[in-house]
Amino acid sequence: MKELQFLEEQGVSPKLIQEVESFRKAHTVSDEVKNRIVKPPIPFYGKEILEMAIAALLQGENVLLSGSKATGKNILAENLAWIFCRPSYNISFNVNTDSSTLIGTDTFIDNEVRLRKGPVYQCAVNGGFGIFDEINMAKNDAVSVLHATLDYRRIIDVPGYDKIELHPAARFIGTMNYGYAGTKELNEALVSRFLVIDMPPLTETVLMRILKENFPDAREEGLKHFAGLFLDLQLKAQNSEISTKPMDLRGMIGALKTVRAGLTPRTAITMGITNKSFDIFEKEIIGDIVMTRIPEEWTRDEVF
Ligand SMILES: Nc1ncnc2c1ncn2[C@@H]1O[C@H](COP(=O)(O)OP(=O)(O)O)[C@@H](O)[C@H]1O
Ligand SMILES: [Mg+2]
Repeated sequence: MKELQFLEEQGVSPKLIQEVESFRKAHTVSDEVKNRIVKPPIPFYGKEILEMAIAALLQGENVLLSGSKATGKNILAENLAWIFCRPSYNISFNVNTDSSTLIGTDTFIDNEVRLRKGPVYQCAVNGGFGIFDEINMAKNDAVSVLHATLDYRRIIDVPGYDKIELHPAARFIGTMNYGYAGTKELNEALVSRFLVIDMPPLTETVLMRILKENFPDAREEGLKHFAGLFLDLQLKAQNSEISTKPMDLRGMIGALKTVRAGLTPRTAITMGITNKSFDIFEKEIIGDIVMTRIPEEWTRDEVF
C-alpha cells in the first residue's frame, strides 16, 4: 500500500506493516466520518518509536507519549491515526475538562432530553483514534470517568444512558509534556491504562530531515546552521540554563519562511525564536547562542 511507503523507507519491520495492512482491511470507516481521516503535514521520523507505537496499538493497547516540547508527540499521534486509517478526534485537556466535555452533555432535542455526544463518545462509536492532548493538564478526578473506557472493559458508562462498547478499532493516544523544569503528574490509575513511550530529544539527523522536508529549496549548509541553533537551545534547556520557550521548532520553520520571503536570517530568528522569551536575562543568553550560529551579515542568499 503506497500510503505506508514511508514506514518501509524508514525500515519499520515488514511484519508490523503487514499487520497494519490487515487491520486496515478488517476495519472499514463509515462515510460520515471519512473526512476525519487526515493526512499529517509531515511524516514522523523515528523507526524505533514508530515500531513501539504500532505494535502497542495493534495489540489493542492505548499509548501515552511523554516527552519534552517539540519531540513530535502530536505529529506522531496524527501519523498513527493516518497509518491505521482511522478517523481522529483531537481533545485538548485543561483544568476545565470534565466528563461532559469528554463524553457528552444533556440537551433538549424534540422535547426530550438526549445526550449530545462528546468526542470520546463519537470516537468510541466510529472506531476512531482519540488524541488526548496534554492529558496531564486535566484534573485527575475529572478524567476518572475514562477508566472503564481505557482498560480491558472498553466501555463508556454514562449514568442514565445505555452502556456502550467501544468499536474494536477505537484507540486512545495521550500526550504529556514532560518538561525539564517541572511537570504536572498524571495519576497512577490513569498511567496504568497506557503503554508509555518516552519521546527522545531531536537529533541532528531528524532535524535536518524535518527542515529539508519543509524547505526542499533551501541550501543544506544554511539549514545546518538553523539545526545547530535548535540543538544548542535544546541542550541549554536540558541543563535548565533556559526555559523551553525558545525551543520552538514551529517558530524556526516560520522564521525560515520569512527568510525565503527576503528577511535576513538574524531578523527572522529574532521573531521566530529569541522573542519567544519575555525574560530579559534569558533573552540575552538566547541572543548569545544565536550570534554563534546565525551571522548578522547573512542574507537570504546564504539559506536559499
Ligand atoms: N520525529 C519527528 N518527525 C517529524 N516531525 C517532527 C518530529 N519531531 C518533531 N517534529 C516537528 O516538530 C514540530 C513540533 O512537533 P509536535 O508534534 O507539535 O511536538 P510536541 O507535541 O511534542 O510538542 C512539528 O512541526 C513537527 O513536524
Ligand atoms: Mg504537543
